[in-house]
Amino acid sequence: MLVTQGIALELFYGNYLRVMSRRLSEGIASEISFSLDLLERYHGRGDRAWLIRQAHTRTQLVMEWHPGDHLGKLGSTHVVGPMDEDLVHELQSAIAYPFFIDWLKDPHTVFISIQLPDGVLSVDTPRKRLDVGQLWLFVLWALGSSLLLFAIAAAFMRNQVRTIRRLANAAEQFGLGRDIGPIRPEGAREVRQAAIAFNRMQDRIFRFVSQRTAVLAGVSHDLRTPLTRLRLSLAMLPRSGVVDAGLLREDFTDMIADVAEMERMIEGYLSFARGEGAELPERLDVGSLLEEVAGSAARAGTMVRSVSCVPGLVLEARPDAMRRMLTNLVENARRHNAGVWLSAYDEGNTVIIEIDDDGPGIAPDRREDVFRAFASGARGGTGLGLTIVRDIVRAHGGDIRLATSRMNGLSVRIVLPR
Ligand SMILES: Nc1ncnc2c1ncn2[C@@H]1O[C@H](COP(=O)(O)OP(=O)(O)OP(=O)(O)O)[C@@H](O)[C@H]1O
Ligand SMILES: [Mg+2]
Repeated sequence: MLVTQGIALELFYGNYLRVMSRRLSEGIASEISFSLDLLERYHGRGDRAWLIRQAHTRTQLVMEWHPGDHLGKLGSTHVVGPMDEDLVHELQSAIAYPFFIDWLKDPHTVFISIQLPDGVLSVDTPRKRLDVGQLWLFVLWALGSSLLLFAIAAAFMRNQVRTIRRLANAAEQFGLGRDIGPIRPEGAREVRQAAIAFNRMQDRIFRFVSQRTAVLAGVSHDLRTPLTRLRLSLAMLPRSGVVDAGLLREDFTDMIADVAEMERMIEGYLSFARGEGAELPERLDVGSLLEEVAGSAARAGTMVRSVSCVPGLVLEARPDAMRRMLTNLVENARRHNAGVWLSAYDEGNTVIIEIDDDGPGIAPDRREDVFRAFASGARGGTGLGLTIVRDIVRAHGGDIRLATSRMNGLSVRIVLPR
């Protein structure tokens, strides 16, 4: 800004000042030379005094004649600006005598002394006749406007930089794993855009991380059930004596099924972690699914009272997810030492699966709480089971309700679209 102001000053006012100063100096020089010519021509005593008076009234130049004097120095005392140089130049071309210009002695007058052959003529010129205008005013204007603009720009930039700094700070905090919440978009449009993009990114990362965490937690949680079954089966194996080969083979088949189930769960998680997506839905026979879950549950010690299903009931769903869902619910009943009744039927376009028990049930005011992860673990549980169940139901576009069963226990009613 200072540079452009300087160039503008030089181009416009510099030129203007130079022209003005040359014209003014020219005027003074020609008046002095004209007076000198007249003084030379009419050098009688009365004539000179009259001429000097005339010069004063007409041109404001105060002339004084010092006969016999000699000038000590020639040239001029220099001052800032073009006037000095111009006046020297114009006087040199207008008069043939040496001279001295004193700019410094008085702020309102410029003293010009001219060495004539028989003495010195001093000419006191009012300074205002040579003044080309207030140079400092222009400089002040240039400097002042530059400083003002600079101050405005600095204030504006500081505002912008502050919002960028806040964004950087938020990114840093988020990188350290702190929950900072969405930041308020502020400042210039670009900065606001960056803030909005940051918020969206934060949101996506949160969702991504919590989804992964949920799946990991779910799988580790659900692995425990087949593991427990496996442990129980192993503990029940006969250690010595006569062994019934037929019964032994049955036990082994069950154990292999448990290991296979665990393998499937881990495989499912791995494929999810690799980004291959979740398991694909299949057409499932609901009856055999319930029988299978009931069979495994019975082995783990659940008292399954009855399994009833409308014959030929099929459902489009992910088989492993369904199995995990039902296992979790049946496992809950076992944990409360309750008997379980499993039933499934269709209603319009939906399949309804009900898991009833005769345990203590859940009080109506706790029925929403139990779905929150880790919120309600009891009796050695982690409190994840029902959270996982509801996630699976919702992922299938269904809904889950808790109620009181006919046996005064808990009744879980799951509605799934076919
Ligand atoms: N069949 C049931 N009868 C009575 N209360 C139940 C039943 N099922 C669940 N609950 C209550 O709901 C809570 C949450 O169940 P959830 O399955 O989510 O967790 P959990 O069984 O405690 O632990 P886990 O993560 O091992 O399943 C239980 O702690 C229990 O208080
Ligand atoms: Mg549970």
